[in-house]
Amino acid sequence: MSKTAILELDGKRYEFPIFVGSENEVAIDVEKLRALTGAITLDPGFKNSGSCKSEITYLDGEEGILRYRGYSIEDLSANSNFLEVSYLVIFGELPTAKQLKDFETDIRKYTLVNEEMKGILDGFPKHAHPMGVLSSLTSALTAFNPKVVNVESEKDMYDAVCKTMGKFLVIATWTYRKTKGYPLNYYDNTKGYVDNFMRLMFELPTEPYEIDPVIKNAIDKLFILHAEHEQNCSTSTVRMVGSSHAGLFASISAGVSALWGPLHGGANQAVLEMLEEIQNDGGDAEKYLDKAKDKNDPFRLMGFGHRVYKNFDPRARIIKKAADEVLAKLGVDDPILAIAKKLEERALEDEYFKSRSLYPNVDFYSGIIYRALGIPTEMFTVMFAIGRLPGWIAQWKEMRVNKEPIARPRQVYVGETLRSYKKMDDR
Ligand code: CMC
Repeated sequence: MSKTAILELDGKRYEFPIFVGSENEVAIDVEKLRALTGAITLDPGFKNSGSCKSEITYLDGEEGILRYRGYSIEDLSANSNFLEVSYLVIFGELPTAKQLKDFETDIRKYTLVNEEMKGILDGFPKHAHPMGVLSSLTSALTAFNPKVVNVESEKDMYDAVCKTMGKFLVIATWTYRKTKGYPLNYYDNTKGYVDNFMRLMFELPTEPYEIDPVIKNAIDKLFILHAEHEQNCSTSTVRMVGSSHAGLFASISAGVSALWGPLHGGANQAVLEMLEEIQNDGGDAEKYLDKAKDKNDPFRLMGFGHRVYKNFDPRARIIKKAADEVLAKLGVDDPILAIAKKLEERALEDEYFKSRSLYPNVDFYSGIIYRALGIPTEMFTVMFAIGRLPGWIAQWKEMRVNKEPIARPRQVYVGETLRSYKKMDDR
């Protein structure tokens, strides 16, 4: 591989350094492009632009590889648990027993959410979408935890990490309790993180609550699979907002809003709604494949396609297998699963989908498991957000520790050139 890339512009030759990543990804370093040539790059949707160097996640979309800090997603989902993976993603190494215990203890210091937050939650209508409520509550946490805004030392950073891990889980489950009209639950510091998620969500004051290990393991695995995914839309948002030195809660609140969109994390809800629509419409998968292929029809096959995975999404494979296991263990016979399998089977042999490298993504099967676990459709993207939290934190931390400059892209102006103001009567 040559060490530089040559650009010829207006008869002049410029050389730009080549940067090669630890997995041999090649990038042309254009940091000095504008200073040297006066020109900028134009790359809508950032399809060809690396916004940072990162040590957190390696993703090879052609080969379907996803690794957190060098560990494959298959390895981690088979052998680890969500809290351990969170530590790995955020701090870079698998924790020792002591480090993990300390991390859990330190998170527990911050699991009580200010009671005044309940007043804010009360202000939302019961039918408000949980993602909108979650984004607002996360932002509101800034007001109650102003120290998380100014992170100046390693200790500040560690405290901010633990606070976010503790409080976000609680408010995320509160968004669900609100839709149900249930009393809000408190974190129990004698229990584990995922156990607490389940209690916070489902435990009622009227009856004892037993945690089903099948459900707990499935949720743990799903959180691991969602934990980190390099520079996707919501993570880039978190880094971008944080690059202005906005606090961690404010940055994550923006990430929640970005995740909500149906082209991103909101797709898991959209997939299930689509499958239900197909079922209610007679279960004709072919009809919906045709709609997805019709350029005059805005319908897209939700849960299909990915900006970076052009072969298969490794998370989708694991989730599909987990969906089969969970449904079998829980004795659930969901006709929606049959429709999903039929759609996948037909799409994978269809020229339209093959030629565009459109495969099932992480969201295609996750909703089916959530449904089997009794999680309502509107909460699916909140589940994604809880899982993605360590990834957002890790990326925000990396950006701040590396002292990255404020993110401020340029543009190519294509509007009117200079013109004079016209009085109202002359328009
Ligand atoms: N159904 C039908 N056609 C599709 C689909 C789809 N789901 N996805 C892409 N295409 C077509 C698209 O119309 C285009 O066709 P043509 O070349 O003829 O114009 C071609 O495939 C390339 O699509 P694109 O929109 O340019 O690709 P992108 O990389 O900008 O978008 C995507 C990626 C994920 C936004 C898109 O595939 C999509 O909208 N999928 C459905 C939503 C979804 O499942 N999102 C979850 C993504 S994974 C989890 C996450 O990121 O949170």
